[in-house]
Amino acid sequence: MAKILVTGGTGFIGSHTAVELFNAGYEVILLDDFSNSSSKILTQLETITGQAPEFVELDLCDEKAVFEFVAQHPEITGVIHFAAFKAVGESVQQPLKYYRNNFYSLINLINAFKSKVNLVFSSSCTVYGQPDSLPVTEDAAVKKAESPYGNTKQIAEEILIDTCKVTPELKVTSLRYFNPVGAHSSALIGELPIGVPQNLVPFITQSAIGKRGPITVFGNDYNTPDGSAVRDYIHVVDLAKAHVAAIKRMESAVAESNYEVFNLGTGKGSSVLQIIQAFEESTGEKLNYAIGPRREGDVEQVYGDVTKSAEGLGWKAELDVNEMMRSAWNWEKYLKDNPF
Ligand code: WQD
Repeated sequence: MAKILVTGGTGFIGSHTAVELFNAGYEVILLDDFSNSSSKILTQLETITGQAPEFVELDLCDEKAVFEFVAQHPEITGVIHFAAFKAVGESVQQPLKYYRNNFYSLINLINAFKSKVNLVFSSSCTVYGQPDSLPVTEDAAVKKAESPYGNTKQIAEEILIDTCKVTPELKVTSLRYFNPVGAHSSALIGELPIGVPQNLVPFITQSAIGKRGPITVFGNDYNTPDGSAVRDYIHVVDLAKAHVAAIKRMESAVAESNYEVFNLGTGKGSSVLQIIQAFEESTGEKLNYAIGPRREGDVEQVYGDVTKSAEGLGWKAELDVNEMMRSAWNWEKYLKDNPF
């Protein structure tokens, strides 16, 4: 039975992917160092799936520990690698922390598996910067990263491309996420931002529950329909299902190349003000917000062309913005009664 290693498995996207792998009949082993997640997620996953997930606490920057772990688990056929630092603002303040962690962990994993593995890499639409045309396709130019975080995603893709060129037995799929939001329908797992949320949707739900003050809309003078910036928001459960599809594609060996890239979005753009409106309409909650200045480093408009993902992965996002908002709100209400 194929066993899939999920690094960063107690994180936001990792935990949702663990559920979808379980639903697809895979054996799963989760790996995390809890640097940006809670061990309580493990009991939540047991409640959702009915069985305690196999788990190992491990720092992927510890080369010796990674090699020992992989040697003890010859049954692992695939890896979905989420474990990385991902706070854009923090990466600007602490670049070396990001370069060390995000590259040491990736390189240790590839070396430990001696490249005989199907690897799904968690990449990001940030590699596109402000695309020259929209919707953005996978062959669009990669733009100079706006942050060390974004740079780690671009350089990691280069590391994987160069390694795949000389390692035919290594298969890699880089998945470029647009904006993952929402939570599992059980409201038992979801996004767990540490401190003040930097991302829009967790700030909205924390503002609505009374943990934060009014929302600041970062700019309404963009060249977009309502002046606020546009993004391609995708439900985290849809995103998780795409990771299962990527593993299946590599197992079926249909790809011509051992390195492939896919956009994971809905193909639709929504503005900040539209998200605020969708939240209010789908939850019945009234939001307080004010227009503020643009945020440094933000792009004006980005949404994905998802044709290649539909054809190559046999996958497309099914959950709409209203379900994204409803599930995010249900999770926030759960957290209020069950603080992590
Ligand atoms: C979305 C929009 C903000 C907060 C980031 C990472 C990206 C990916 C997703 C990992 C923007 C606006 C936000 C607020 C606001 N992460 N906003 N008020 O910046 O598109 O992408 O998260 O892969 O790599 O860069 O997401 O949620 O921060 O912002 O108006 O309080 O909401 O300006 O237009 P972003 P975000």
